[in-house]
Amino acid sequence: MRVIIHPDSESASRRAAEFIAELVRRKPDCVLGLATGSTPLGTYRELIRMHRDDGLDFSQVTTFNLDEYVGLSPVHPQSYRQFMQQGLFEHINVDPNRTHVPDGRALDFETHCRLYEQQIAEAGGIDLQVLGLGSDGHIAFNAPGSSLGSRTRLKSLTGETIRDNARFFGSEDKVPRLAVTMGVGTILESRRCLLLAFGTHKAFAVRETVEGPVTAQITASALQMHRDVCCLFDEAAGRLLVRRDYYNEVEHAQRLLEQGELRALGIGRSEV
Ligand code: F6R
Repeated sequence: MRVIIHPDSESASRRAAEFIAELVRRKPDCVLGLATGSTPLGTYRELIRMHRDDGLDFSQVTTFNLDEYVGLSPVHPQSYRQFMQQGLFEHINVDPNRTHVPDGRALDFETHCRLYEQQIAEAGGIDLQVLGLGSDGHIAFNAPGSSLGSRTRLKSLTGETIRDNARFFGSEDKVPRLAVTMGVGTILESRRCLLLAFGTHKAFAVRETVEGPVTAQITASALQMHRDVCCLFDEAAGRLLVRRDYYNEVEHAQRLLEQGELRALGIGRSEV
């Protein structure tokens, strides 16, 4: 795992957008996995700015969202489809036919989930999956206890997630109890993952995800098994990390490598 700790969520979000933009420039027909929630909003705002000011072109990009609430129509103001429309899709030149969000009103969820996985496979798999982190360590709606091999399926929301998300619905009793979500196994098949977490309320989940054991009780910890994960945290979310000095050193060295400052790293310097 590459762990990058930024002083604040604004600069971390800009960095996340730069990761995504770099992929879109290098592979214009890439497949992006997207998340909802408050965490990626700053990243999406920056992508919108890059599209507007720098001409970042999304016309050939395909997107798949992680999840959707069951029972909400795509035009419901709290549906994740609406969230994506308003937070990103309507402000960039992505082809609407290439944007995919699970359908919360499907009647046969088993078939719908299987088809969603099939669509991801037919698109060539996800190149870069953006992930937020639940305060209980979940990714997508994979609550503690979810199988680390799970696929797209129906899941019950936990009490903690219902309480966390009540702010969007006005009260807890209005939050849907079920969601369709990509599984942990589905997420682990993405070629690259970008995990974002901001704020002191995420600090415990961040520490368990990065430095705790791999366990289904913290589904994000399964990312330790993935070969290409980049974590972008702000100071508050990273405050409980024991090895933060080491992550900062690694990041410094990585920066020098990327800038070609090989001598500063002792590469090509022979000392007897
Ligand atoms: C959203 C999602 C969730 C959120 C997580 C954090 O698509 O899959 O796992 O990423 O609940 O939510 P926020 O960002 O609102 O703190």
